[in-house]
Formats: sequence, structure tokens, C-alpha cells
Amino acid sequence: MTLRKAVDCAMPALLLPLMAYALIGEAFHEVAGMAMLGLFLLHLWQNRAWLKSIAKGRQSPARILRTLCSLTLLAAAIAQAGSGIAMSGHLFPFLPTSGMAADARAVHLACGSWLFVLMAFHAGLHGRKLLPQLGRKLTGPALPAVCACLAAVALYGAEAFAARGMPGHMFLQTAFAFFDYDEPLLCFFADHAAIFLLFALAGHVTQQAVEWSSLRKCRSSGDGQSGRKLP
Ligand code: HEM
Ligand code: HEM
Repeated sequence: MTLRKAVDCAMPALLLPLMAYALIGEAFHEVAGMAMLGLFLLHLWQNRAWLKSIAKGRQSPARILRTLCSLTLLAAAIAQAGSGIAMSGHLFPFLPTSGMAADARAVHLACGSWLFVLMAFHAGLHGRKLLPQLGRKLTGPALPAVCACLAAVALYGAEAFAARGMPGHMFLQTAFAFFDYDEPLLCFFADHAAIFLLFALAGHVTQQAVEWSSLRKCRSSGDGQSGRKLP
């Protein structure tokens, strides 16, 4: 496994325990949060060519979508790490940030859920890079069976997304995250994995739809016959 793949897998894997803040312990959360920040920086460094060429070349709708998602994700990641560090009582207790605790808490709660949703959507937009072989390997009756399973898990994810109050966190309608201390950690992880899959699928389907509509426009304007590569 390349370092790039390892980082791509480690980020969603670490995201699940991070979302379980009170269930895994505050000190562990802060250490895991800093590790996640390290992964974000490594991932950005691995994609530094993107930053240099952000405004260059043809801006296809699919590329614009990926850029908008990456920039929003970047903003959410900065806000999440910054607000976490400002509230930190274990790793950075010496910071003179006690006056901003209430604001930092609101930002951390809202951005935590936005970050989760955007990371999944972004992973879905880049699905072909993450799992390049999957599309080719899935043929015959396996294809509808896998699609049906994914749809069922995503449907469950939609239910868990609402039941866990994530829309309320995202739009600052709730001031605190509720944690059920009797809930097995595995149930928490399973629900969040299903929510992640829901938004990753949404990202993948959106990417396919945007590319398909670009292809149609190209074909109807005659460009498709020139064999030009699409976004
Ligand atoms: C679930 C976690 C994540 C996964 C699986 C993931 C995966 C990927 C993949 C596969 C690429 C394409 C790389 C290539 O072109 O070879 C990419 C690009 C990129 N990622 Fe991530 N990423 C994740 C989280 C993040 C986060 C949190 C940020 C921001 C802090 C971020 C920022 C970017 C940027 C700026 C690019 C290049 C621009 C683009 O093509 O959209 N990613 N990511
Ligand atoms: C980067 C990924 C991170 C994610 C996804 C994340 C997620 C969360 C979530 C879901 C909560 C519970 C909701 C809340 O009460 O706000 C929380 C709370 C908290 N996090 Fe993070 N966090 C991250 C990074 C960090 C970092 C880097 C630190 C500090 C070094 C940190 C420190 C805290 C603290 C102190 C709380 C308790 C807030 C309170 O008193 O209500 N977090 N985090």
C-alpha cells in the first residue's frame, strides 16, 4: 500500500472515534484530533500540485465541483482543528483562550458534522481514484446485488443521520452533542460508517451525473466525435 492510500484510509478510520468524543475519553480525543490534523497536512502536501494549478486549465463542471468541495472541506478542517485547540484542556491548557470557549464550542460542534459530511462527499467525488478496480471487477449478477446492499446501508445511514441530530448540529440548532454512555461503541461506529457511506455515494452519484451531462452537451455540440477526453 502506498503512503497516499494509507493516508486516504487512515482519515475516515480516525474520523469515527473522533466523532465519539465523550465515549472514547477527552484526552484520547485531543491526541486523535492532533493526529488527524497531521493527516490533513500530509494529504494536502500530497495534493500540493492541485493548489498550484487551481486556476489553470479548463474548468469543467466536474472540476469546479471537486474544487468547491475541497475548498469548503479545507475551511471546515481549519475551523475544526482551530476551535478544538482553543478548547483543549489536556494538550494546550496554557493557551489564553478561555474567553472564547463558548464560540469555539459552537464552531467545533457545527464544523464536526460538516467535516464528516464533506469528507464523505469528497471521498465519493474521488471514488474512481480510491477504488479504480471496483468498476471493472463488478460485472454480471454481482453488480445489482452490491448496488442493492449499498442502497440499503445508505438508507439506514439517512435514518441514523436524522436520529443522531446531525442536521441540528450542522445548522446550530442544538448547543450540545448528546452522547448515550450506555451505547456500545460498535453501534456508534456502525451508524457513523453508514452515514459516511450515504454521503460518499451521494458524492459519487453527483460526480457521475455532472460528467454525464457534460458528455451529453459535448456530443450535442459535436465535440464528442473528435475523441476529446472528458473531465
Ligand atoms: C475521508 C478522507 C479523505 C479521502 C479518502 C480523500 C481522498 C482524496 C483523493 C483520492 C484525492 C485525489 C488525489 C489524486 O488526484 O490523486 C483527493 C484530493 C484532494 N483532497 Fe482529499 N481526501 C480526504 C480528506 C480530505 C481533507 C480533510 C481535505 C482538506 C483538509 C482534503 C483535501 C484535498 C485536496 C485539496 C485535494 C486535491 C484537489 C481535488 O482534486 O479535489 N481531502 N482526496
Ligand atoms: C479534526 C477532527 C476533529 C473532529 C472530527 C472532532 C469532533 C468532535 C466532536 C464530535 C465533539 C463533541 C461535540 C462537541 O461537544 O463539540 C468534540 C468535542 C471536543 N473536541 Fe474535537 N474534534 C476534532 C479535533 C479536535 C482537536 C484537534 C482538539 C484539541 C486538540 C479537540 C478538542 C475537543 C474538545 C476540548 C471537545 C469538548 C468540547 C466541549 O466541551 O463541549 N478536537 N470534537
